[in-house]
Amino acid sequence: MQRLCREPRGLDETIMMIGKQKPILVTGAAGSIGQAAVAGLMGAGWQVRGFDLRPTSGCSESVVGDLTDAAAVHAAAEGVGAIIHMAAVPDDDDFLERLLPGNIIGLHHVLEAARLAGVPRVVLASTGQVVWWQLLEGPWPIEPDAPISPKHWYAATKVLAEAAGQVYARSHGLTVVALRLGWFPRTPEHAVELNETPRGPNVYLSPGDAARFFVRAMEAPLEQGYSVVWLASRPLNQQLFNLDPTTRLIGWEPRDQWPTGSEHLLRQAPGSEPAGLTR
Ligand SMILES: NC(=O)c1ccc[n+]([C@@H]2O[C@H](COP(=O)([O-])OP(=O)(O)OC[C@H]3O[C@@H](n4cnc5c(N)ncnc54)[C@H](O)[C@@H]3O)[C@@H](O)[C@H]2O)c1
Repeated sequence: MQRLCREPRGLDETIMMIGKQKPILVTGAAGSIGQAAVAGLMGAGWQVRGFDLRPTSGCSESVVGDLTDAAAVHAAAEGVGAIIHMAAVPDDDDFLERLLPGNIIGLHHVLEAARLAGVPRVVLASTGQVVWWQLLEGPWPIEPDAPISPKHWYAATKVLAEAAGQVYARSHGLTVVALRLGWFPRTPEHAVELNETPRGPNVYLSPGDAARFFVRAMEAPLEQGYSVVWLASRPLNQQLFNLDPTTRLIGWEPRDQWPTGSEHLLRQAPGSEPAGLTR
């Protein structure tokens, strides 16, 4: 059974041939998941060019720029071996003022920059919110090729990201992995919300699992084409996403479980009790 939504066209070994001489461009590198990617890649010996609205710590090169600035994005993509596109408005927000520029125009510039600079591999951030109604109602675990049922406009921008990724894989020969990320808490309040949401600990993504994933996503031999996979840590009591295709494609397995890697956020939350760390 084909579960990867993948259209194989031969092994993409370009990135392995490029090796670690070329940097990886991580957009949104100063953000929560971006920082996990930076830490993992730098720790594995990759050079990382971070691109963000604010300076990125911990990477070899920090570019401060806005995704809506096509020239800045194109310049950042020059000479890189791969792009990990994490920069976005990471949840629902004003569509015209925030989601349209950040998540749609920015996506266009990143994919065009990859095409024009001949970047062979792109990882695009998507979300479980693209299958929101199945996430709430089942059946579980959700396969990567389950029918789309987006929550709202933020999710719709990620549906577009997945569709555009497919365009650049099929029409332009890139290898594109659309990554449906689990819940990676950004703040103490976000961690408390996760802890108090029944499905939260089952869709949690830890910094360590994310970091290990991004290294494997750069180093794994992939067949040229488009894939969509889930990325989450081990569920606490129910598997909501099928992670097996991720393991088969990328050679990565989750190790952590809520709240590993986010204990500091829970401790920082006002009024938190240690007993609240486990469910
Ligand atoms: N955190 C989660 O639970 C979660 C779940 C599913 C998907 N995602 C996706 O993962 C990605 C990273 O999310 P995160 O949680 O790390 O968010 P974050 O807000 O911590 O990081 C996003 C980063 O992108 C940067 N950014 C935003 N707009 C930009 C622009 N126009 N130009 C340049 N940089 C810009 C921000 O400055 C920030 O550093 C996003 O695409 C988000 O939609 C996150």
